[in-house]
Amino acid sequence: MTVSEALAAIRDALGPGGWLDAADDVAPYLSDFRRMYRGQTPLVARPDSVAKVAAVARICNAQHVGLVPHGGNTSYCGGATPDGSGTEIVLSLARLNRVRTVDAAGFSMTLDAGCTLLAAQTAASAAGRLFPLSLGSEASCQIGGNLSTNAGGTAVLRYGMMRDLVLGLEVVLADGRLLDQLKSLRKDNTGYDVKQVFLGAEGTLGIITGACLKLFPQPDDYLTALVALEGIGAAVDLLGRVRDTFGDSVEGFEYLPHAALELLRTHVPALAAPFDAPHPGVVLIELAAPKTLPELGERFGEFLGAQVESGRARDAILATSGAQRDALWALRERIPDAQTREGASIKHDVSLPIGRLAEFVARAAERLAALAPGARLIGYGHVGDGNLHFNLSPPAGTQRGSADETAFAALTPIVNRAVHDLVAELGGSFSAEHGIGRFKVAELDRYEDPVALDVMRRIKATLDPHGIMNPGKVLRS
Ligand code: MLT
Ligand code: ZN
Repeated sequence: MTVSEALAAIRDALGPGGWLDAADDVAPYLSDFRRMYRGQTPLVARPDSVAKVAAVARICNAQHVGLVPHGGNTSYCGGATPDGSGTEIVLSLARLNRVRTVDAAGFSMTLDAGCTLLAAQTAASAAGRLFPLSLGSEASCQIGGNLSTNAGGTAVLRYGMMRDLVLGLEVVLADGRLLDQLKSLRKDNTGYDVKQVFLGAEGTLGIITGACLKLFPQPDDYLTALVALEGIGAAVDLLGRVRDTFGDSVEGFEYLPHAALELLRTHVPALAAPFDAPHPGVVLIELAAPKTLPELGERFGEFLGAQVESGRARDAILATSGAQRDALWALRERIPDAQTREGASIKHDVSLPIGRLAEFVARAAERLAALAPGARLIGYGHVGDGNLHFNLSPPAGTQRGSADETAFAALTPIVNRAVHDLVAELGGSFSAEHGIGRFKVAELDRYEDPVALDVMRRIKATLDPHGIMNPGKVLRS
């Protein structure tokens, strides 16, 4: 079969409306969310059934044609973008978007991989249940992408990452066979837990087409506070105290340094400054109040008051309405956008043992002062999980599009190396929640344990012997 015969077979398998090939139609599938990569494809497959996904995989496998699964295209690492060869087929899951069942009594939900995260949350909520994964891109990212990247977000502290929320999985393998592990069982010790290898595999081992996910009781209310502190070390201390006091009620613990709030002041001025005075850092804390604990609000207010009185915190605001809660979350959620508007940014998505976060920030600042003088270090994010988005913006006053901005962006490789080397030295990870995609393949090679890399390559060779599944992502092809 020639390539054009393979494409014709794929079109036949998909049927009318099941594929795109006009330049304008395929254009949105050719670049990634951060516009780091641009690829080419002869065809975007848009199957509307699992059987059609399997048919496409079978043809691609037989003809050794690369297949790039595509969800909401919100990857930070170019995980869903084809290469420039013009030979890889993109497979969009967007038409597989049915919520199959919601089992309120069993606290589970089974759905297609192309459902958006927001659709999943909404379906759970309509049944009086909570699906807790929560991300900035939830209106457009898809469950299949969340599973394939083992997405994190702002509620990991309480509920874990996407991997922790999975009961069952349905996967089309590279050879077109269907791996049906779509069970809703909480206990199932029957040999190797095969589904695990597909979680976080970024579509390099197969295409996730459906999942059974865990649901949780809906909290009665949320208690949300913003606490001003001396910096990240004080934030880590506070994390210990708040967890000691409120246990599993603590759902979110997000840190923003002063420099992040300054970005908001410039680019999102409609967001009111939370405190009258500037502070080195602030933490957004969210507790979920179960129905059995109506007095939690009072206790949280007392706790915050005691932190300020003792001098361990500089100030605190407890939201007293839904609107105020939304306003506090907007401060956190608008940071990535504000940083993008500020111009070039050198990004890192690192995690460390929580007790070493402050040391990491101090030592990184020392190293970067020499490598990128004047750069603003905006290390914000999921401190409750030991995960910082440790991003650098150019020195204050750098004009967008200027030679200075270009020179700053050109520092990316040496800055990445310095930061990731330090992370490795401190026992951390260079990719906490954004994955590897195409962007961090060399980093994985450099920092991963060689034995683990060897095991990954063997798994890849077993499940995808012709290397058709999302080539060049995660592992070198
Ligand atoms: C976030 O937590 O805001 C995202 O994971 C990181 C980002 O958008 O930089
Ligand atoms: Zn994040």
